[in-house]
Parts: sequence; structure tokens; C-alpha cells
Amino acid sequence: MGTEARYERLAASLAADIRSGKRVAGERLPSVRELARLRHVSINTAIAALRRVEQLGLTQVRPQAGYFVCASATRAPEIAQVRPSRQARSVAVNQLIATLSNAVDAPENVPLGTAVPEASWFPFKTLAANAARSLRAQPENLALYGELAGVPKLRNQIRSRYRDLGCHIDQEELLITNGCLEGLNLALRAVAKPGAVIAVESPAYFGFLQIIEGLGMKALALDTDPNTGLSVQGLETVLASRSSSRPDCLLLASSFSNPSGATIPEASKATIVRLCADYEVPIIEDDIFGELHFHGSRPLPLKSFDRRGQVILCSSFSKTLAPGSRIGWVAAGAWADAIRLGKLMLSQATATPMQHAISQYLQEHRFDRHLSKLRATSAEHIQRFSEAIDRHFPVGTRISRPIGGYVLWVQLPKGSDAELLHERANHNKISILPGTLFSTGNEYRNCIRINCARTWTNQVATAIKQLGQLAAEL
Ligand SMILES: Cc1ncc(COP(=O)(O)O)c(C=O)c1O
Repeated sequence: MGTEARYERLAASLAADIRSGKRVAGERLPSVRELARLRHVSINTAIAALRRVEQLGLTQVRPQAGYFVCASATRAPEIAQVRPSRQARSVAVNQLIATLSNAVDAPENVPLGTAVPEASWFPFKTLAANAARSLRAQPENLALYGELAGVPKLRNQIRSRYRDLGCHIDQEELLITNGCLEGLNLALRAVAKPGAVIAVESPAYFGFLQIIEGLGMKALALDTDPNTGLSVQGLETVLASRSSSRPDCLLLASSFSNPSGATIPEASKATIVRLCADYEVPIIEDDIFGELHFHGSRPLPLKSFDRRGQVILCSSFSKTLAPGSRIGWVAAGAWADAIRLGKLMLSQATATPMQHAISQYLQEHRFDRHLSKLRATSAEHIQRFSEAIDRHFPVGTRISRPIGGYVLWVQLPKGSDAELLHERANHNKISILPGTLFSTGNEYRNCIRINCARTWTNQVATAIKQLGQLAAEL
């Protein structure tokens, strides 16, 4: 067994002790040396394991004193894993989304539905000033289509950020798109045809399911751990199978997945990329929340482990900077030509003024400062919302433990009907999303997703309390 696997196993065992309450809040974990001695591992393995447990948000370092279990680590039980159907299925979420969208977007509601921070968490005035300056300097941009692949300077800036993560993305491979959704659409059209089987996590982001439905493909939900994401073993089993449910493509968010918040450990990411390469199955990776980690360093995308161009990475500035800019990108790997052609057919170039505005923002080195504030604010709000849900929701409620992003996945006691809760919440002017949206079958009828990127005000606190009461009435 390699060092990586050993430290992951040790970290998982320490995490399980904390989550099960065997180790209590405030307790000091063994020191590096003690841990190495007790578990018969090297000092480096012990250090890596302790860091991983800290990254999971379960412990905190006190300088000179060691790692201590966080109070938040031992609260309401974590999400119980649900085993999805083993069959690839046609999905039907678009009608439900169309029905719910008016309620979710209602301006008078406390907006805990859509996964987007309130405007004041984004530097929109600086970006607006940049856009105005760019339009004044080059008004002719409005009279041109612009380059199909996007503004070269912005593409280089995005490539350079990935280069720091060990992702080598060629200039021709990177295309600016209209948000991440356009990239996902282009990628799926490039690698698969109607009727193809697309393997997804369970629960899966409803946008994935919408595209799969729209393109007449089928979804195969894979076993997914609430914390460590896609099961490598489950993936290997379906890749090796000869059934009609064998996937033609894997579509997933490997870091801070939406809605579960799960993040696949690095060793497993490397294995997933290798397995898919062995079975010649392309991967489409959605990295939209990847920069929003609460602790340690940014998790590597699957693309960092890709040596054959078999991972297509899609992302955007929607969760980190400016959803209204609609600026996203796709690193197309081996499918660069097909995706270029697809973009030409679908929407031609992406509008240039906001590309220039964001490029200017990146050039002024403001993005990383903004990101570090956004990460801290998101972490604080995830904590506050979790505590409030813990206090006000019925006994038996389980809450996800994301280590990045800003959504919480809440599993209500068995038998609860999240669509009914959504309806009643809407009557009370509160927006949430029901779990059915994230399901290829009917697995998540008792789950809801809550957007926590809302400044914690009395109005928000009251909304969570009311939601808890409504959930208890169900
Ligand atoms: C995982 C995920 N991918 C993609 C999107 C959509 O991204 P964009 O607004 O950039 O099209 C979202 C938005 O909620 C998301 O949560």
C-alpha cells in the first residue's frame, strides 16, 4: 500500500472516531510522534493524516499545543449514504425545475434556494467600473463578434491559475463559454450521443440532469459517500461491467460537489482518472466550487491527474466572482476541435466586454484577496447555518459537513416530503430546493438544499427557525 493510501486510511479512521463521538469536542488528538508510534506509521504519514483531518474541518490546530476536536464536528449526525438504483435511467427534472423556478426566484422570498451569494459578497462595483473603462477604451468591441475561443489574455490568465495546480492546458484547448452550463453542454455533446449512459454522483447537481434529459441521454447514479464523494470501487464495477448500463462518460464535480459538498480525496482522484483512461471513458469535470475551500490548500481537480487529455474541465466565475457576467470556460482536452465546432454552432463567441473587465480584475491581483475573504465568510456562514439547523430542525435531521462551497444538504427524518416543505416554505416567503431535483429516481424526497451564502441577519435566523418548525409539522 502506498504512503498516500496509508495516510488517507489513518485520516478516515480518526475522522470516524470524531464523527461517532468517540473523541469529544475540545479533546486533543495524539501528537505526530504519538500517532506514528501508536499506529505504526511514519512521521510523514502521521503529519499528512492529521492535516487531512484538519482540512475536513474536524479539528483545529493550536500553535505549540496540537490538534483539537472542533465543537462543530460532533453535532447532528452526518448524512446517511443512500444507495441509488444500479440501472441507467432516463431522467425527468426539467418540468419540475420549470414549475419550481418562479417560487425559487421570487424576489420577496428569503433566498435560500439558488446557490449564489448575496450581491454584496461580490466586488460588482469594481467589475462594473472595469467594464465601463473597457467599453470606453474599445467601443468597437460591441460592433465585433470577438474571437470564438475568447479574449486571449483572459484565457492565458485562467491557464496560468491551473498551471499552478499541475494542470497543463494548451492555449487551443481553453475556450471561454457562456457560463459553466454552456461548457457542460458542449462537453456532453462532444463526447456522447443521444441514448448514451452518463455516470453521475448521487445526489447529482440538477444542471447535469437537465442537460442529460435535454440531450436524450440516460443517467447512471453511482454510489457516493457523503464526505468523500464518488466510490472508486463502485465506479470500477460499472466500468468493468458488460451490461447496457456501462457508462459512456463520467460527469461529476470532484471538489465541494453540489449539493452534497463531498470532496474526493486526492489519491482517489488519481485512481478515478487512471481507471477511466484504462476503460477509455471520458470524464467531464465541473470545477465551479473548487476555489472555495475553507482550510488548507485548494483541492486539485481531476484534470491535474490527466496525462492523456481525457478530462474535460468546465468552470466559471459564477460562484466566485460574478454570476451575471456569464463568463465560464472549458478546457477541452482531446475534444478541443469538436467543442470549438459545437461552440460555433451554439452561440458563436462569448460577449467580450465582461471578459476584459474580469481580465483587468485578475491582472490587478484582486481576485485572490477577494477569494480569501469569500472563503472565510462562506466557512463562517456554513457554521452558523449548521448550528441553527441543528437547534431548530426535528430530531433525526442530518446535515452535510462540507469543507468548501456554501450549500448545505439536509436529510430530514424518514417520511418527510421535501416538495411539500418547499411549498409551505414558499407560502412563508422562504426559498429552498427540494432533494427530488438532485435525484435520478426518487431517492432524495426527504432532503433539501440550503444556500448559506446570505449574511446572517434576524430575517435569515427567523427563516431557519420557521423552516425547522415546518419540517417538524411534516
Ligand atoms: C455545480 C454547478 N455547476 C454549474 C453551475 C452553473 O454555472 P454557470 O452559472 O456558470 O452556468 C452551477 C450553478 O448553480 C453549479 O452549482
